[in-house]
Amino acid sequence: MTESGPTQAAKLLGQARRTVVFTGAGMSAESGVPTFRDALTGLWQRYDAQQLATPEAFDADPDLVWGWYEWRRAVVARARPHPGHLAVAAIEARAPHSVLITQNVDDLHERAGSTAPLHLHGSLFAPRCSACAHPASTGDPAEPAEGRRLPPPRCDRCSAPIRPGVVWFGEALPQPALEAAAEAAASCDVLLTVGTSGLVYPAAEIPHVAARCGATVIQVNPEPTPLDQVSDINLRGPAARVLPALVDAAWGGAG
Ligand code: APR
Repeated sequence: MTESGPTQAAKLLGQARRTVVFTGAGMSAESGVPTFRDALTGLWQRYDAQQLATPEAFDADPDLVWGWYEWRRAVVARARPHPGHLAVAAIEARAPHSVLITQNVDDLHERAGSTAPLHLHGSLFAPRCSACAHPASTGDPAEPAEGRRLPPPRCDRCSAPIRPGVVWFGEALPQPALEAAAEAAASCDVLLTVGTSGLVYPAAEIPHVAARCGATVIQVNPEPTPLDQVSDINLRGPAARVLPALVDAAWGGAG
């Protein structure tokens, strides 16, 4: 009798020698962090996210873009990791040689106990100077629910505007993180892709690298995506439900 997807996935995960977990915005959806493609609200509903997430948008209207990222930072600061984030941290603790790669700019993996996620699209919590790249520290965000324009603070060193530490459309990904991610994908035997549409490259290439190098790809997503093609097992369901069950099954409830 052929085993069900979840049973097979748990077995492969439990036996894996090198595991990669690759996450996207859907991983944080159940913590109340809107995915990039979710409709924007308040002041932001007049814009599409792609319009706000570019260097050109920041040059043209820094107060609008800074306001948007401070609003997103406030949403994340109010959010809590969910059982799916905890399950990912448990996989890292249990699976030998595991690597966590995320496209997310929130810090929910870190707050769930993940030690060194590779952030391919940067982080909301690593602002820097838009001119000299000097790291900046910004206090706790206190943004109104509907959002507002907010002038970015100035760099202590060169007085240029501070920008969010995220990768904007049209910008290169951080090379060290991208190289480490590609290396991990090329040498893993199981890659778990969670909550990503697999549409935004070069990050979306990571599951394809793993598949080409012979790894088993397991996808967790309530919806079909282009990654269905490279996935050996598709687990249709939300991360907060599917991942804890997978970890329990893989490590016999000791997850
Ligand atoms: N559990 C698992 N997956 C989910 C859940 C959930 N609870 N809710 C939604 N999803 C899935 C959706 O079906 C969709 O396939 O998460 C995916 C989210 O897709 P996107 O919004 O396209 O996010 P992502 O793939 O991370 O986008 C890539 O593009 O938007 C830029 O920089 C941004 O990092 C982001 C990148």
